[in-house]
Amino acid sequence: MPHADSSYIPQGLSKTEFWVHVHDQLTSLLEGQRHWVTNLANASSLIYNALLAYTPHFGDGDRAVNWCGFYIDSPFFPTPRLSTPSPNDPINSNRLLLGPFCGKPACQLINVAPGKARGVCADAYVQRRTVLVHDVEQYPGHIACDGETKSEIVCPLIAKIGGQETVLGVLDLDCLTIAGFDEEDQAGLEKIANLVVNACDW
Ligand code: SME
Repeated sequence: MPHADSSYIPQGLSKTEFWVHVHDQLTSLLEGQRHWVTNLANASSLIYNALLAYTPHFGDGDRAVNWCGFYIDSPFFPTPRLSTPSPNDPINSNRLLLGPFCGKPACQLINVAPGKARGVCADAYVQRRTVLVHDVEQYPGHIACDGETKSEIVCPLIAKIGGQETVLGVLDLDCLTIAGFDEEDQAGLEKIANLVVNACDW
């Protein structure tokens, strides 16, 4: 099957069936590859395009998902090999950096330093829980990367290594409609976040 076809969505799926289908497709797509940049690139594309194909829930006009991607804790980014990092290199700082995504350009850095964390992604990262926002304008500290976004969901990426939990970053989705995401989407996305974490070397 051509890779692009993994985002094809059969007609008539319930929400639960939709998320199981996306999970299965992503499992196959990530097989045999463990680099997180590569896998997160394909994961963001698959989720984004699958949601847009899932009419009438997400694909129709102002109901559309308009962004899907990852912010990753800066120490997990590869160290440059051919150049000297600049003095303000973010690798050692308390920040999430923009990772692979689909959608329009977005903010590159999100501060998660104690006392300075702000926004939906930072809250999901710091509190280690999914944050489901029905109306972004009502969310204190929301960072507006796109003025057209109305609702958002952010799941933390949590790895269990040696019995200890480490938060690697977050999976973030935006939607053009108020209350675009619900608890069923949350359950589906949390399983996908778990799949992505375990499919990669960090
Ligand atoms: N709205 C997010 C910022 C990232 S963009 O939505 C892509 C936040 O409040 O953290």
